[in-house]
Amino acid sequence: MIKWFQMHLFLDTANIEEIRRAKSLGVISGVTTNPSLIAREDNPDYKAAVLEVCSIIDGPVSAEVLSLDRDGILREARELSSWAPNIVVKIPISASGLEAVSVLSQENIKVNLTLCFSLNQALLGALAGASYVSLFVGRLDDIGHDGMALVGEIVEVFRHYDIKTQVIAASIRHPLHTIAAAKAGAHIATVPYRVLMQMIEHPLTTAGIERFIEDWQRVAKRAAII
Ligand code: G3P
Repeated sequence: MIKWFQMHLFLDTANIEEIRRAKSLGVISGVTTNPSLIAREDNPDYKAAVLEVCSIIDGPVSAEVLSLDRDGILREARELSSWAPNIVVKIPISASGLEAVSVLSQENIKVNLTLCFSLNQALLGALAGASYVSLFVGRLDDIGHDGMALVGEIVEVFRHYDIKTQVIAASIRHPLHTIAAAKAGAHIATVPYRVLMQMIEHPLTTAGIERFIEDWQRVAKRAAII
C-alpha cells in the first residue's frame, strides 16, 4: 500500500528489461504505460505484456483504455482490472472518461486520469473519484507553459482540501524535471528509464570513485614493493 504523503517514483515504460533493471535498484514503486509506450515494444499480445509487468512490479501498474465512449471505457476498464490486482486503469480526461471514473470508483477500480493539462481537469478527476491524476509536464513545457508550476498548484489545492487523489508528474524528460517534481510536492514522478539512470550519475561521483581506486592502488603497489 502506497503512503500518500511520501514521494514515489514510477517507471514510465513498457520495456520489460528496463522494468526488471529498475526494480532491482529498489527505488521504483509502480509502472505507467500508455498505448505509445506499448507500441514501441512491438509486442502484439497486450495482455501478456501487461501481465508480465504486473508479475515483476507489486505496486500500481497503469494500463490505458482506448475507447472514447463511456460504455466502451467501462467495458475495457473492467476487463483490464480483472487481469491483476495491481492494475490501475488509465483513462484520458473527457466527459465520458469522467462518467466512467465515477462509476469505476464505486466499484473500487482504481483509475489514473491521464492527459491532464490543467487544474480544472485534475480537480474534476479527483471529484469523480480518480486515485491518480497524471499531469503531462514535458508536453506543457513544449508549448511554453510551466508544467511543474501547475503540478505545484494542484498539489497545494489538493492539500488544502485534504483530497486524497495522488498527483503524478508525467511526461518527465530529464533529471531536472524529477527534482522540480519533488520540490513541487508531487506524490509521484513517473520517469523514463533513461532519466532514472541519469538521476544516479554525477561527474563528481565518477571522479571520486576513480580517485579512491587510484589512491588505493598506489598504496597497494607500495606495499607490494616493500
Ligand atoms: O507519462 C506520459 C509520457 O509517457 C508521455 O511522455 O515524453 O511523450 O510527453 P512524452
